[in-house]
Amino acid sequence: MMKLMMAGAFATVAAAVFVTAAAAQDSANIGEQGLQTEPMELVIDDEKMMTRVKAPADSPFTELISGWEFRNPGTRKMELDDFDNPAFIWVEQGEELWSTVDGTEGKSCATCHEDASDSMKGVRAAFPKWDEAKGKPQAMEHQVNECRTERMGADAWKWESDQMLGMTAYVGLQSRGMPVQVEIDGPMQEWWQRGKDLYYQRVGQLDMSCANCHEDNYGKMIRADRLSQGQINGFPTYRLKWQKIGSLHRRFKGCMQNIRAVGYKRGSDEFTALELYVASRGQGLSVETPAVRQ
Ligand code: HEC
Ligand code: HEC
Repeated sequence: MMKLMMAGAFATVAAAVFVTAAAAQDSANIGEQGLQTEPMELVIDDEKMMTRVKAPADSPFTELISGWEFRNPGTRKMELDDFDNPAFIWVEQGEELWSTVDGTEGKSCATCHEDASDSMKGVRAAFPKWDEAKGKPQAMEHQVNECRTERMGADAWKWESDQMLGMTAYVGLQSRGMPVQVEIDGPMQEWWQRGKDLYYQRVGQLDMSCANCHEDNYGKMIRADRLSQGQINGFPTYRLKWQKIGSLHRRFKGCMQNIRAVGYKRGSDEFTALELYVASRGQGLSVETPAVRQ
């Protein structure tokens, strides 16, 4: 009985919040599933990004679709050419920091890792990764700060600082075009489950879960936005709304705020577990870092 009432209440909320694609006064070029009808491929520097891949058998989706596919043509185009992609201001900053000596040890990232295009290739695709010493998974930001504080004698960067965003964008770029492939076995399993529980847990005044929007209603309009599957293959991502590049955990926080839930801290165990789980839902999509979104 209780369950029925809840379901009924949700249906009312959902009806009020979501508008089906057909009814939406949205731009042309978007079809019934909320996907582009004007054919465009995401090819950057002659490399084709896999923006749609067949979902594995245990996936809630039949097809995994990059958030890029759901954006309007103008936003999509900005990602085709690095000169048009405003995130590259941060990438350049990250590249400079890579070989800048900092901290008491007199080292830069390059001292140990040398050429990033070699040493950092594929790294973004596999994060979050298990950290044996800490006994938990780490997001890339954690790893960068571990190197700074434990190996360089330098201060940690703030999660959402321009330095951290620049560095994670620069390191992430070295994996662009490579398929997302996170490890979820062994000790990661428990964290993956924790992330999954968070993903399906209804929270906030609107009593909604991530899945209510990104799994049950992707392709539909919610206010002025078209819902995607909430994939994370483009982070850090330049967001037009932010007028800057932003971290994945900032995005998570924003989504939780939108349903009037109290979010977790950037870098918290909760968001790291959630990142691991959501990454696993996008296995095989190309890393697009740094992507452009609305
Ligand atoms: C003194 C040497 C040293 C310096 C300097 C250093 N690192 Fe590292 N870094 C390491 C080692 C060693 C590892 C492997 C750690 C591990 O596996 O737990 C590592 C791992 C990493 C990884 C993960 C690589 C992977 O394959 O998963 C990233 C990303 C990284 N470092 C980024 C940076 C950045 C960015 C800087 C500069 C701000 C930096 N590191 C400075 C030694 C260093
Ligand atoms: C009320 C609906 C709603 C809920 C609930 C919600 N989001 Fe979102 N989310 C959005 C909207 C709208 C956007 C921007 C358009 C898009 O990409 O879907 C977005 C974007 C995202 C993106 C960026 C996708 C990209 O391609 O850059 C991620 C990642 C994301 N959400 C994850 C989550 C997670 C994790 C949760 C649960 C903690 C969550 N969202 C809950 C509405 C929601």
